[in-house]
Amino acid sequence: MAFEHSPVLLEQVIAELRLSGPEEKEKREKRIVDCTLGLGGYSEAILTTCPEAVVYALDRDRAAIEAARTRLLEYGDRFRAFHANFGDMEEVLGEFSPLDAFVFDLGVSNMQLTEADRGFSFQHNGPLDMRMNPDGAAQSAADVLSGLSAAELEEIFRTYGEERHAKRIATKIEESRKRGRVPATTEELVALIRETLPAPVQRKMGTHPARRVFQALRIYVNDELGELKSGLKGVKTLANTKATVVVVSYHSLEDRIVKHTFRTWDREEKKGAVLTKHPLVPDSEETGRNFRARSAKLRTFRFF
Ligand SMILES: C[S@@+](CC[C@H](N)C(=O)[O-])C[C@H]1O[C@@H](n2cnc3c(N)ncnc32)[C@H](O)[C@@H]1O
Repeated sequence: MAFEHSPVLLEQVIAELRLSGPEEKEKREKRIVDCTLGLGGYSEAILTTCPEAVVYALDRDRAAIEAARTRLLEYGDRFRAFHANFGDMEEVLGEFSPLDAFVFDLGVSNMQLTEADRGFSFQHNGPLDMRMNPDGAAQSAADVLSGLSAAELEEIFRTYGEERHAKRIATKIEESRKRGRVPATTEELVALIRETLPAPVQRKMGTHPARRVFQALRIYVNDELGELKSGLKGVKTLANTKATVVVVSYHSLEDRIVKHTFRTWDREEKKGAVLTKHPLVPDSEETGRNFRARSAKLRTFRFF
């Protein structure tokens, strides 16, 4: 199956990585880590724009690794893909350090969203799964809904989804559970949310009524914030002098972690400098053609 592929903020990412230009006169191999390979849009652009680049790519989704390996076959040994969490990069990439640049494009890929049986999307019916790595130890979203208390679910919906109606939805899930009806598919969860929220409330939400709950469950199931913190710790250990780190995030909680980490490295640890005083965001042309880009924020740090 072919997927619509439009890497977010691609030009800006390549420019921020500073792979060429007056600062980079030295013609030596540059080891670049694409921490979130997906379909390989960033990796491909790095390999084509920088002839000295060798890309070490990570993804916890085996399907993404396989699709990108096929797509980027022509780059031979310059492209090396690993099925791994970026939170584990110290173990996976330690032998290749020091590394010259790192790029993260957080969240889910179009491929994951479009394939109904991955259970990420409220628009396609499928099993309520949402694991980026279905071979790993994480619980599926359906297991989370059947295993956690109403108070715990409420906390997840509120914290990771900023869902104002978190309590109502969590209570409804608990009631359903008592009647032996736990949502097991994306359609069943959407129906439960629609039944819970009165029509005028749904109209006022300004977005699909299930969007925030789906986002919250995905972030929880994949421990996305914990992974981001571990990934940035790994970067600090593996980075070469003058290494650049570029992070594109899509959620205020992610952006806060990136901003705070970069600021600590800069002001307290004196390890380098934040290069983006304000985050870079896509222009209206990009958000017009790519809905996913609308919440993107890019921040860059450079080690001394
Ligand atoms: C937004 S997509 C990346 C798209 C990519 N930049 C491109 O141009 O094709 C995010 C990818 O990161 C992967 N991912 C998310 N969290 C991860 C983690 N902690 N470790 C490894 N891969 C992760 C997802 O499986 C997904 O394939």
